[in-house]
Amino acid sequence: MSKYTVLHDRLHRWYLEHGRHDLPWRRTEDPYRIYLSEIMLQQTQVATVLERFYFPFLERFPTLKDVAEASEEAVLKAWEGLGYYSRARHLHVTAKRTGGRLPRSAEELEKLPGIGRSTARAIACFAYGEALPILDANVKRVLYRFFRRRKATQQELWAMAERLFDSRRPYDYNQAMMDLGAMCCTPKRPDCAACPLRSSCRGRQTPERYPEPKKRKKLPLRRRQILLCRRGDSVALVQRKEALLGGMWGFPQREEMLPGRRLGTMVYRYTHFELEATILESELPSELQGRVRFFTSDELLHIPLSMLDRKIVTRFLMS
Ligand code: ADE
Repeated sequence: MSKYTVLHDRLHRWYLEHGRHDLPWRRTEDPYRIYLSEIMLQQTQVATVLERFYFPFLERFPTLKDVAEASEEAVLKAWEGLGYYSRARHLHVTAKRTGGRLPRSAEELEKLPGIGRSTARAIACFAYGEALPILDANVKRVLYRFFRRRKATQQELWAMAERLFDSRRPYDYNQAMMDLGAMCCTPKRPDCAACPLRSSCRGRQTPERYPEPKKRKKLPLRRRQILLCRRGDSVALVQRKEALLGGMWGFPQREEMLPGRRLGTMVYRYTHFELEATILESELPSELQGRVRFFTSDELLHIPLSMLDRKIVTRFLMS
């Protein structure tokens, strides 16, 4: 019997009563649907995934085989607006590499691009019943508080996850820990009175001290000119190559000032920098000749554009 058996039973009862059982990825055994949810949820909140992205993506690509047979551009298009587009590129590579059939163990899943240890375990647990703990942001916060730790290495966090794990009910335990972090053990003003783990939680007197709050670094500012170069009723776009937006289409950008008509400015926050963009209507610079493709406003609706580029289309081309 585990030292935590009583606690596991309390957590389980709490989950049965309060857990988010209606989430669509908890009502399926299809590994692809579970995998897709875990990838979308890596950097995006449940409400956003649920309201705007999960079902339309499945409508467009009902199986992983459909993803494998599509172009990268079509997958990026279905991901448009979700951000962190490497997730979509990795999904496409994984679909192709596996021929649409995901491997059945966490160990094999972890070898695929875009699937880290926690995601591999979540898929293996939720789709195949493998008994391994996971470690997403919500679970980490619960563990930091439960074991009263202000800082911990990844290795220490995995050790804590193993210690508290309920191997008798892996599926319910892992889902319950995520729900506890999302609904009860929240970053601000956690509801300790409602928590099924409170009797053994070492951090319960001052939960907000654990983990140590991150200092928000001021993001470096990048200034760029974003070029609207027209030809007839079309506009020039380049296909991006950077890690962040690779494969997406977008307006050409320049660091240096160029002659042209200033249409406005936009500020956009990325994870690692803030972009201050001047939107400039200009001639196509000579070095871009042959490196761009021209799209009509109708065609712009059918290609993958980043959030910022989509806003520029709406603000400066559709009005
Ligand atoms: N975040 C990551 N995986 C999740 C899941 N299965 N349910 C709710 N939130 C999640």
